[in-house]
Amino acid sequence: MSAEKIVHSTAMESYIETHLAPEGPGLVHARENSIKNGIPTIAVSPTQGKFLSLLATMSGAQEVLELGTLGGYSSICFAQAIKERGGKLTSIDISSDRREVAIQNLHFAGIKVPDETDVLLGAALDILPQLANEIDTGARPAFDFVFIDADWDNQWEYFDFAVKVSKGKGSVIYVDNVVRQILEAGIIGPETRDEKVTPLVEMVGQDDRVDAVVMQTVGSKSYDGFLMAVVK
Ligand code: DHB
Ligand code: MG
Repeated sequence: MSAEKIVHSTAMESYIETHLAPEGPGLVHARENSIKNGIPTIAVSPTQGKFLSLLATMSGAQEVLELGTLGGYSSICFAQAIKERGGKLTSIDISSDRREVAIQNLHFAGIKVPDETDVLLGAALDILPQLANEIDTGARPAFDFVFIDADWDNQWEYFDFAVKVSKGKGSVIYVDNVVRQILEAGIIGPETRDEKVTPLVEMVGQDDRVDAVVMQTVGSKSYDGFLMAVVK
């Protein structure tokens, strides 16, 4: 395939969305209400959301953790996927304004808050140790799927905690925007290397707790890619 065919990736994504991932009313509302409330339009695309919901279904996840609620678009994808089998989503966001909009959007999509999805307010690096402690004392169950979609500079720190709060063998950790971060932090490509950033891929490659890969993606969200790891 010639490289110039990548120009069709946005039209391709629309085609795929139309036939395989049409947004239900809850997702349409979440997207529109998020824009109305000034939330940046950086949520996962409908096809990416569908992919996440299929992954949650494939893995049989009961307890899903999301870092970076934003307007709750991906939260709705997860919550709808796990609702039927009584699964629960816990999502964390640092912004109370975004949390309020996400809760509105989850309600509109028919998700009960906090029973089916709980949205916790705070910095993930503050809340993750609390969750780890609650898991250790048996106050809450561990997670079998962790979706990391928060600020990019802390991807490794979030990943490390995600393994700690996971159930163990077979648990899945998915990190969004990994390829864009590798480019932005100057790990690959012409940007100046940002020494504050711990290189996620290199750390995960040496991490005996997991087996992982990065998949590059194209589409309406341009060139990017995600890391997916399975706990050993
Ligand atoms: C952008 C995309 C994302 O998926 C995200 O989590 C943050 C930012 C962006 O396109 O800038
Ligand atoms: Mg993202």
